[in-house]
Amino acid sequence: MSSSTKISVALDSRSYNIEYLAAIADLRTRLSPVTGHAIALIDANVDRLYGKAFRKALPHVEFLRIAAGERSKSFLSLEKTANALVKAGATRASRLIAIGGGVVGDLTGFLAGVFMRGIPFVQVPTTLLAMVDSSVGGKTAVNLASGKNLVGVFHQPQAVFVIPSLLETLPPRELKCGLSEAIKTALIADASLVLAMENHSYDARRFDLDFLTNLSAAAIRIKADIVAKDEKEENIRAYLNFGHTLAHAIEAATHYRDVLHGEAVAVGQRFAALLSRRLGLLSPSDEARIQALLKKYQLPIRLGDVIRTQTGSRAVTPPKLLELMRSDKKNQSNAIRFVLLSAIGRAELPRPVADKELLASLKEFLLLA
Ligand SMILES: NC(=O)c1ccc[n+]([C@@H]2O[C@H](COP(=O)([O-])OP(=O)(O)OC[C@H]3O[C@@H](n4cnc5c(N)ncnc54)[C@H](O)[C@@H]3O)[C@@H](O)[C@H]2O)c1
Repeated sequence: MSSSTKISVALDSRSYNIEYLAAIADLRTRLSPVTGHAIALIDANVDRLYGKAFRKALPHVEFLRIAAGERSKSFLSLEKTANALVKAGATRASRLIAIGGGVVGDLTGFLAGVFMRGIPFVQVPTTLLAMVDSSVGGKTAVNLASGKNLVGVFHQPQAVFVIPSLLETLPPRELKCGLSEAIKTALIADASLVLAMENHSYDARRFDLDFLTNLSAAAIRIKADIVAKDEKEENIRAYLNFGHTLAHAIEAATHYRDVLHGEAVAVGQRFAALLSRRLGLLSPSDEARIQALLKKYQLPIRLGDVIRTQTGSRAVTPPKLLELMRSDKKNQSNAIRFVLLSAIGRAELPRPVADKELLASLKEFLLLA
C-alpha cells in the first residue's frame, strides 16, 4: 500500500476521494486547494498529541477543541460548537475539518449538515474505527438520552484524508474496536479479506503500520462500493449493520458506559453467526471460523465478557435484551430484524426473527464456552 492510495466514493455530484497520507505535514498541500475560511474541530486527546503538527500543516485554519468521549455527540455540544463557529466568523462559505475518531466525525458532519443550512466538511479520521468505517458514507448524528444516533442527517464529506501513522498512539482497546468493524466488513462482503485476516500473524503488542493501512483500505473499499450503490440505506447498506442489533442492546443495557461500541459489535457478530446457523443459513464450520477470527483478534465473544448475565439486580437477562433490541431504530413495526450471513463474505438483507427463536438463541448463546 503506498501513501498515495486513493479510493473513490462514486455519488455523482457528491463523489469524493479517500486519500492516504504518510504524515500530518502532507495535509498542507492536500488542503490548501480547499481555500476559504476553514475551522477544524479537533478531539482533545488528538490535540494534546498532534495539535502542534496539525496547526503547522494548516496555518490558516482555526482550531476548536472538542472534549473526548461519546458525551460530545449531544445537542448541548452541538449548540456550544455552533455558537463557537459564529464567534469564529464562520459563514455559509466556511468549511469544517473533523480531526478525531467517530465522535468528532459524527458531530462535525452533523454540524456541517445543518449549520447555515449546510456547509462542506472534510474528515481526518484518527482512530482505526473511523478509518475503517465512520469517516466514509456520510452518516452523521448526535445521541438523545433515549438512544444513540437518533438525530442526524446524511451529509457526505468533501474528502477524507487517512494518516495511518496516527494509530501508533491509539490505546489498544480502541484499536481492537476498529478491528471488530473491519472483521464485520470482511464477513459481509469479502471472503478473501476474511482469509487474509485469518492468515495474518497478529501480535497485539506490535504496532504493524502496513497491516493496519492495508486493512483500513480494504475495508473502506468495500464500504465505498456499498455506499455508492445504496447511499441512504434502502437496501444493501444495511449489511453494514451485521452484529449491531444485539450490540445496540448491550450498549443500552450498560448505559453507553463500560462497553465500547466495537466490543459490543464483536459479541453481536458472534451472536448473529449463531443465529444464522440456527436458522439453517450458515454452516457450523463457518460459524466456528467466525468465532475463531474474533478470538484471534482478542475480541470479546460472549455476553458474559461484556455484561453481567448471572445473578443480582444488574444482571441482563434474555427477555431484557429482547426488549432492548425491539427499540432498535432499524426495526419495522414490532418485529426484531437481523442481518444474517449465508456464508463467509455473504450477507442477507435484514429479516424479522421471531421472539421465540431469539429467546432460544440467546439462551444457547449464554451457554457458549
Ligand atoms: N457515522 C458512521 O457511519 C459511524 C459508523 C460507526 C461508528 N460511528 C460512531 O463512532 C463513534 C465511535 O468512534 P471511535 O471508536 O472512533 O471513538 P472516539 O471518537 O470516542 O475515539 C476513541 C478514543 O480515542 C481517542 N483518540 C482518537 N484518536 C487518537 C489517536 N490517534 N491517538 C490516541 N488517542 C486517540 C479519543 O480521544 C477517544 O478517547 C460512536 O459514536 C459511533 O456511533 C459512526
